[in-house]
Amino acid sequence: MSLSQKTGFALHRPGAGSPTAVPSAAAPVGDQTPAGAAPMLDPEVRVNLADDEAATRVRAVLGSVDADLVGLAGVKRRLQEIAALLMVDRARARFGLSASRPSLHMSFTGGPGTGKTTVALRMAEILHALGYLRVPRVHAVTRDDLVGQFIGHTAPKTKEAMAKAAGGVLFIDEAYYLYRPENERDYGPEAIEILLQEMESERGSVVVIFAGYPDRMETFFSSNPGLSSRVAHHIGFDDYTQDELVAIAGRMLTRDDYRLSPGAVQAFDEYLARRLRQPRFANARSVRNALERARLRQANRLVSSNRPVGRDDLMLLTEEDIRGSRVFATLEPDSQTNIS
Ligand SMILES: Nc1ncnc2c1ncn2[C@@H]1O[C@H](COP(=O)(O)OP(=O)(O)OP(=O)(O)O)[C@@H](O)[C@H]1O
Ligand SMILES: [Mg+2]
Repeated sequence: MSLSQKTGFALHRPGAGSPTAVPSAAAPVGDQTPAGAAPMLDPEVRVNLADDEAATRVRAVLGSVDADLVGLAGVKRRLQEIAALLMVDRARARFGLSASRPSLHMSFTGGPGTGKTTVALRMAEILHALGYLRVPRVHAVTRDDLVGQFIGHTAPKTKEAMAKAAGGVLFIDEAYYLYRPENERDYGPEAIEILLQEMESERGSVVVIFAGYPDRMETFFSSNPGLSSRVAHHIGFDDYTQDELVAIAGRMLTRDDYRLSPGAVQAFDEYLARRLRQPRFANARSVRNALERARLRQANRLVSSNRPVGRDDLMLLTEEDIRGSRVFATLEPDSQTNIS
């Protein structure tokens, strides 16, 4: 069953043709006017949470997240839950049950290449579909975009980043670098202060997502309880298993019109087993890089073969293209296989 089929937005579906049923809230809950301009609904009216245009768009985003991204079951579930919460919130606002904009700031913690930036874009699409963002856009920054090196430089930088993110998501990668307790003349706290003000503001039009590796983010949030308490949703991204990495490679290859020969499939599995044990392994990003290098070797092989090539030659990555990697150059101390 696909994620879109089990989104379960129809928390309460009145029967079709029910005389009191009205389409669910199409009015924007978001941005500046939480209750929107729609008239307040009578208490006995029933709204259908699953059937409005926003719900359809959210289902489409969740469906494509499910189809495009391998694994990430926990993250997908959280996206679905947050979307459901916001849909209920919109409906509540229409009955006058809640007038305030829900807190939407989030943290995405996980190792390198686990999909944090990719999912942030999808989150922006969901928040936009539901009217909580004006634009489905992510402005990604790091410490250097927010913190100046001299007195008076930090506030304008942070405000400029906020302005660029206006109406969308401000994604702060490796957010813990904002906080450097070892350097007492550091301007990071000034940037945090400005971020806090913006995050607190009911009128704020920016959703902030703090991203980074789990252990450091933990320290960052415990040193900045003010920030932590304003982050409504903490989402953890696990490292991928080897099988998931193989599947991710498959998606990337299919999308780019490449395929692996049977020998290359086996070699790629061995490649991953070795690469996983080496330093600086970056999950899906390492898979992407490995495939790019294999494409380089394929191109070199085809050009230097000095023979005509067909469509299939141009698509095919062979065992040799995979085994040309440096990863195979070192002998595995714990492996019985003589790979070279
Ligand atoms: N589950 C997945 N399925 C398919 N492709 C994925 C998946 N996760 C990540 N990718 C791909 O891997 C690459 C790296 O992902 P992304 O940049 O989102 O990771 P990240 O967690 O932001 O990494 P970093 O911490 O290094 O910034 C992207 O090209 C993305 O499309
Ligand atoms: Mg990233």
